[in-house]
Amino acid sequence: MQTVQDVAALRAAIRGWRAQGQTVGFVPTMGNLHAGHHSLIKLARARADRVVASVFVNPTQFGPNEDFERYPRTLAQDQAGLAEHDCDLLFAPEVATIYPFGAAHSVSLRVPQITEVLEGAHRPGHFDGVATVVCKLFNLVQPDIAVFGQKDFQQLKVIERMVRDLSLPVKVVAAPTQRAEDGLALSSRNQYLGPEERARAPLIHETLLQMRDLVAKGHAWRVVEQAAASKLERAGFVLDYAVVRRAEDLAEPAEGEREGLVALIAARLGATRLIDNLSFD
Ligand code: PAF
Repeated sequence: MQTVQDVAALRAAIRGWRAQGQTVGFVPTMGNLHAGHHSLIKLARARADRVVASVFVNPTQFGPNEDFERYPRTLAQDQAGLAEHDCDLLFAPEVATIYPFGAAHSVSLRVPQITEVLEGAHRPGHFDGVATVVCKLFNLVQPDIAVFGQKDFQQLKVIERMVRDLSLPVKVVAAPTQRAEDGLALSSRNQYLGPEERARAPLIHETLLQMRDLVAKGHAWRVVEQAAASKLERAGFVLDYAVVRRAEDLAEPAEGEREGLVALIAARLGATRLIDNLSFD
C-alpha cells in the first residue's frame, strides 16, 4: 500500500487507475482505526477495483471543548491495518493541504435541518465541519463510491443529503455497525472506558433492542423514549438523548407511524460519550 500526503501524488495514482478503466472506492477516516473501520475497507474492496482510505483529523468538526490536539494519532498502526485489509492507497494530508487558507477561514458547507437536531444540537457546528471536509475529500479523490458506517447514523444521513443536494457524482454506501460479542458498537472511544464502565456499556445496545420491540408492540414512541431514558439513567448513564426518529430526516414520527424508524442514543459513562442506533426495518 502506498501512502501519500500531497494532492499531486494522490491524483497521479488515481489517474493511472482511471486510465485502465478501474473504479475507485473511498473510505474517509480520522485514523485510530479498529475492526469497524476495517469492515468499511472490506466493503469498499468488494464494490470497487481500487480502494483509497484517508486519515485526516479534521479540525473544523471539533467544538471548542472537544480536544482536537489530544485526538489519538496512530498513523503507523493505521497503515499496517489498512495494508493488511488490502487498501491500495492511504491519503494522509496535512491540515494546510485541506485548508490552504487556514481552517478558520475556509469555505464552510452547511446542510440545513438534519444537522440541527441530536448530535448537531449537542455539538454545534460539528456537521458543518464534517460536510465541508467530506466534500473537499470527494473533490480530491473523486471516488465512484464512498463507504460510511451506520454507527454514525446522523453523519451518514448528512452526507447522503449533501451528495444529493450538490449532485456530487459519488454513490454513498452504508456499512453495518460492527459490534463486540456483548453488543457494544465498536468505536475508538471504547478504549477510554474503565473495566466497570466497559461492562455496563452494552446496556445501550440492549436498550435500543428494547425500544424496537416496544415500538413493534404498538407502544407510542414518546413512551418508549421515556422507558429507555429511565433504564439508562438508573444504570448511571448521563443521557444526551434516547429517541425514536424517522430514519430519512430524523424528524419526530407522526402518531402511529411505524415504518422507516430508527432509535438513537447518546449517553455518557464517566468521561466517555457513546453513541449508537438501531434501524427498525
Ligand atoms: O467519521 C469520521 O471519522 C469523520 O467524521 C469523517 C467522515 C472522516 C470526516 O472527518
